[in-house]
Amino acid sequence: MKKVTAVIMGFGDRGQIYAEYALRAPDKFEIAGCVEPDPVRLEKAKKLYNLKDENCFLRPEDFYAREKFCDAVINATMDSLHVKTTLPLFKMGYDVLLEKPVTSDPSELKALQKAAKEHKRVLMICHVLRYAPFYLKIKNLLLGGELGKLEHIYCSENVGIAHMLSSYVRGKWGSEAECGSGMLMAKCCHDLDLIVWLAGGAEPDDVFSFGTRSVFCEENKPKGAGSRCLTDCKIEKDCPYSAKKLYLDNNEFPFLVWANVPNKDWTQVNDYEERKKLLETVNPHGKCAYVNRDLVDHQSVLVRFNSGITATLDMTGGASRAGRRIHIVCSRGEIEGFLEDNEFTVRRYNAERASYTSETVRITEDVSGAHSGGDLRLAADFAARVAGETPSVSCTSIDDSVIGHLLVIGAETSRKERRTVRLSEFL
Ligand SMILES: NC(=O)c1ccc[n+]([C@@H]2O[C@H](COP(=O)([O-])OP(=O)(O)OC[C@H]3O[C@@H](n4cnc5c(N)ncnc54)[C@H](O)[C@@H]3O)[C@@H](O)[C@H]2O)c1
Repeated sequence: MKKVTAVIMGFGDRGQIYAEYALRAPDKFEIAGCVEPDPVRLEKAKKLYNLKDENCFLRPEDFYAREKFCDAVINATMDSLHVKTTLPLFKMGYDVLLEKPVTSDPSELKALQKAAKEHKRVLMICHVLRYAPFYLKIKNLLLGGELGKLEHIYCSENVGIAHMLSSYVRGKWGSEAECGSGMLMAKCCHDLDLIVWLAGGAEPDDVFSFGTRSVFCEENKPKGAGSRCLTDCKIEKDCPYSAKKLYLDNNEFPFLVWANVPNKDWTQVNDYEERKKLLETVNPHGKCAYVNRDLVDHQSVLVRFNSGITATLDMTGGASRAGRRIHIVCSRGEIEGFLEDNEFTVRRYNAERASYTSETVRITEDVSGAHSGGDLRLAADFAARVAGETPSVSCTSIDDSVIGHLLVIGAETSRKERRTVRLSEFL
């Protein structure tokens, strides 16, 4: 395979993860440059990947003014920047790996799809779960056809308490107005993409959704709770959402909580007293969790496909055990499992006995890293695709991603307008 070279646009948490593929497979992938307005992060990229000065850009406009100097761009900027930072790249001749979610605006989504096609560029969206061996094995089983006709897909995404608080209550995805994505888009565009992928070419026709915020809200704020856990809260010791317990005692999600400390990489914010002071003063993760913001904390979605397949997704925010469950029912068998168990069960109907056999499929592949082993497999597949290799089963085309995103947009429209939404409304 030809070695692929790429610029990282946005050397934050996600950009750093994908870049790591260059360290694992230097013969296949190389980081050739970086666009990053944060000088500490840009310097880190420069050192780690031995980048030339002229290929490091603090100002994105300087990068756009440069001629194309490598094969691809990995765009790992935050949600609201995805479309506007990607559109010029096709004209410049770059293939693009773009972080999800693309956008919550259907017209922007279609503009991006059109631009990639017009310029004949690869545009892959980071649907990393398709690459997790757990889901890939399930996909291959369905493709094999032995379980018969697919009838229903049930998925759930139970967002753990620490993750919910660090990302969607106090964190940078905590407000749709500020970040550009609602909870379903930010957290579950993966799950709806998986549903569309597993449904194997069937097109979703109708979607319906309910969702609300009923846990993390002012009305539930206990008597004695203050504005910050470590300053004016009288019930901190009894609070399940205490910032002290999460971030000082248990070091949860440090890459989110200690990011954006001026002039420091999050890995350098280790001192207990420094962390405490930050939580007491400026750090948003030190604030009370009982706040009214514009995100739901749980939501359910029901989908009907043109082939008759139905699917449901339940997203719950604030679960004690985080994880994703799946149960697929087909005419001759079924698949059921919990991603984080690293195994699933296949039941095959036995007509002679009017019963079934049960097989446990263990995931033996390396699933280290985030997204059950999906992240670096996705980076590898992108490099292979840019190098001209045959796309893998997991590979997302922008057309697939548009359908998955429209499903989220349709579900959100349904929730807000309390009606069943036909996806053709957005086509
Ligand atoms: N695929 C997944 O499963 C997954 C998981 C988590 C997050 N995400 C998505 O990944 C994206 C990045 O998230 P993150 O946590 O890495 O964010 P981050 O804030 O850590 O990183 C974004 C970086 O982009 C930089 N930046 C800002 N404007 C820029 C510009 N114009 N050009 C270049 N860089 C710019 C910022 O300085 C920052 O370093 C988000 O859209 C997020 O929703 C995807």
